[in-house]
Amino acid sequence: MSFKKVDFLIVGSGIAGLSFALKAAKLGKVLIVTKANEDESNTKYAQGGVAVVTDQTDSFEKHIQDTHTAGDGLCNPQVVENVIKEGPARIDELIAYGTSFDKEASGEYDLAKEGGHSEHRILHYKDITGYEIERALLSQVHQNANIEILTHYFAVDLITQHHLGEHVDKKSQDINCYGIYAFNTRSNRVEKFLAKITLMATGGAGHVYASTTNPTIATGDGIAMVYRAKGKVRNMEFIQFHPTSLYNPSEYPAFLISEAVRGFGGILRRANGDSFMEEYDERGSLAPRDIVARAIDAEMKKSGLDYVYLDITHRSKSDLLSHFPNIYEKCLSIGLDMTNDFIPVTPAAHYLCGGILVDEFGATSIQNLYACGECSSTGLHGANRLASNSLLEAAVYAHRIFLDASVRFSTINFQDNVPDWDDSNTRLSNEDILVTHNLRETQKFMSDYVGIVRSDFRLERAMSRLGLLHEETESFYKKTKLSVKLCELRNVIQVAYLVVKSAMKRKESRGLHYTTDYPDHADVLEDTIL
Ligand code: FAD
Ligand code: SIN
Repeated sequence: MSFKKVDFLIVGSGIAGLSFALKAAKLGKVLIVTKANEDESNTKYAQGGVAVVTDQTDSFEKHIQDTHTAGDGLCNPQVVENVIKEGPARIDELIAYGTSFDKEASGEYDLAKEGGHSEHRILHYKDITGYEIERALLSQVHQNANIEILTHYFAVDLITQHHLGEHVDKKSQDINCYGIYAFNTRSNRVEKFLAKITLMATGGAGHVYASTTNPTIATGDGIAMVYRAKGKVRNMEFIQFHPTSLYNPSEYPAFLISEAVRGFGGILRRANGDSFMEEYDERGSLAPRDIVARAIDAEMKKSGLDYVYLDITHRSKSDLLSHFPNIYEKCLSIGLDMTNDFIPVTPAAHYLCGGILVDEFGATSIQNLYACGECSSTGLHGANRLASNSLLEAAVYAHRIFLDASVRFSTINFQDNVPDWDDSNTRLSNEDILVTHNLRETQKFMSDYVGIVRSDFRLERAMSRLGLLHEETESFYKKTKLSVKLCELRNVIQVAYLVVKSAMKRKESRGLHYTTDYPDHADVLEDTIL
């Protein structure tokens, strides 16, 4: 069996993985494994931009307050302060790596606004900010002799004492990560990667749902791997549905219509042209996402339509073309001219606010394993992420993890007696269609029962279906040679379970978790830890 030994092993090549790689390369050899093409990631599709205080009229206090208000009381105050105050230095680094952000004729940054922000503070590059960040980071990585990237390698499981034949107790503080097993999708073989330090940077889990803005890589793999290895996860019930994905039933995943369009004056309207958000919140179309998504959901239930409209026709064509060229082209490709036509929009699963539990330096509950970016739960987002705070969080935590790892790295040794992956009792599947069916079924009932509005009854229905699918899939997995689709299905089912279980534990409505059985806040503020 082929195997590699590296100082730093990073799973994922979005903003979190690449930012950490560039820093860790100052300390030792870095290997990034990533399951698709090197740039395929949620990062690449980020539109609106990065929320950061750069303007004199803005302040850290305002950004901190906006983050807490959106998070509905559940953000960790120290984490919020750290991320927002350390943000500008990290953004300077992104710029030094070659990232461009749009400027006005005066030379000042062209700052955009999104839902829940009291100020214009979002740095952006047209409406393709993530593409620009990913491009700049990858170009730095390619020039760094200490970093290697292996594409089309799918991380399957963390290597811990369990693989050495030792019993690992869930309550143990001493679970160690020695690296990962990864499936080489070109050779169809599982390879062993041993590392002193491993970073999980696998992004989100939009594909737990039938409709999502996330690219197909977002199947919650890192979270499922950590939970299987008996690590802790937090606040998995808080799934953010973006209010305005483009309504186009033939397209999967859904294309996003950036919140920056509403920040630019876009108004949500009913089919008869009436604006409706003022009936739900005094901040209108720019209220935080949980509120706007719920209002749209209520409007769709009343009208029986699968969408509402977004109207930006009052802005000039030249303004729209210079700020939103990508969205303009996309709409045009399906026969909509956003300078004249209302855009049909509908909520779609967009961002996972919870994830792998980490401390203030990104360390997980498993030794020598860090997590960064959307797969992690730092405490920044609370019960609902403030728009454009996630790219910022990933950049800040990549640096914090580097600081912590710099101190610990030289004291860690490789674990040498790790066995090879054993698939001797498995055979090739001739029933791959079952995997596809089970994935679709999971996504459908998660959308139907664990969406924007929940109830005990719906959650119970979802849980009983999950039990059956889990059993079927695990039994199939044990007998079958690995494939990416099968591993992703397992992970989606695992993450769906964590979402439902966490939602069942929260007997209140807060932020993104709204349940008709407990419509108010509970008296006690609590994180959900599994
Ligand atoms: P990702 O960028 O998703 O990278 C994850 C990486 O892990 C990928 O390379 C993937 O292939 C790899 N991977 C996953 N599983 C495995 C595995 N098993 N084995 C190997 N590799 C694996 N946030 C903002 O702050 N501002 C915005 O404007 C914004 N706009 C957005 C627009 C869209 C359409 C979407 C989908 C998200 C947006 N977000 C935005 C959210 C933000 O883009 C993400 O939260 C952020 O990019 C996550 O970065 P990451 O590095 O954690 O994960
Ligand atoms: C958007 O552009 O609307 C997405 C911003 C985000 O998810 O933070």
